[in-house]
Amino acid sequence: MYKKIFATFYDPFMVSIEKGIGPRREALLSPLTGKILDVGCGTGVNFQYFREDAEVIAIEPSSAMLAYAKKKLSQYPNIKTYNLGVNNPQMEEIVSPKSMDYVVSTLVLCTIPNPKQAIENYKKWLKPTGKLIVLEHIKSENKLFGSMQEILNPVWNGLADGCNLNRHTDEYILEAGFKPDAHFYSGNKLRWIQGIYSLS
Ligand SMILES: C[S@@+](CC[C@H](N)C(=O)[O-])C[C@H]1O[C@@H](n2cnc3c(N)ncnc32)[C@H](O)[C@@H]1O
Repeated sequence: MYKKIFATFYDPFMVSIEKGIGPRREALLSPLTGKILDVGCGTGVNFQYFREDAEVIAIEPSSAMLAYAKKKLSQYPNIKTYNLGVNNPQMEEIVSPKSMDYVVSTLVLCTIPNPKQAIENYKKWLKPTGKLIVLEHIKSENKLFGSMQEILNPVWNGLADGCNLNRHTDEYILEAGFKPDAHFYSGNKLRWIQGIYSLS
């Protein structure tokens, strides 16, 4: 029931946030060609930015979120969806090792229960020439705001379907061995990392 409520309010809640991050999604996603994995596609916000000739696999473990994404699919015949989480062993059946040109991770490593395992899977699925595309919010470096994020996290986590305000996702990506082709940080309070990463 809660997941249905979250899914119903996700797009309306995001309207004002998308004014800021929508252009960033577009800049990151619209040039991509070839095979793309959209991890935790949610309600399918990224779909509008993918090229028509890209071959997109979109995975999402929440049936409620996926139901909204599926409503958008008639416009995007190049996108296939699967009701799966990124660390589900069944992913082996749909994504082969070293098969993806791009793995897209937007606003999702904050929520995935084991983000480091997810990043290891990203590495496994990318071709040696593949790229990881990231747009994620991370823990603030502002001391006061960062402390508030720690205090609020348990409540926020419950309200926002498992989202965490205090993850150092940028560090996890680099620790896993990804190298930034281009990445930059923005926001002093709510801090974002946006980047394109390679395996070598
Ligand atoms: C804040 S939403 C972001 C949705 C979308 N990526 C976007 O950019 O709007 C986070 C999504 O991560 C999904 N999620 C949670 N656990 C996951 C997992 N293990 N694997 C993949 N996605 C997951 C949630 O169901 C939710 O749809």
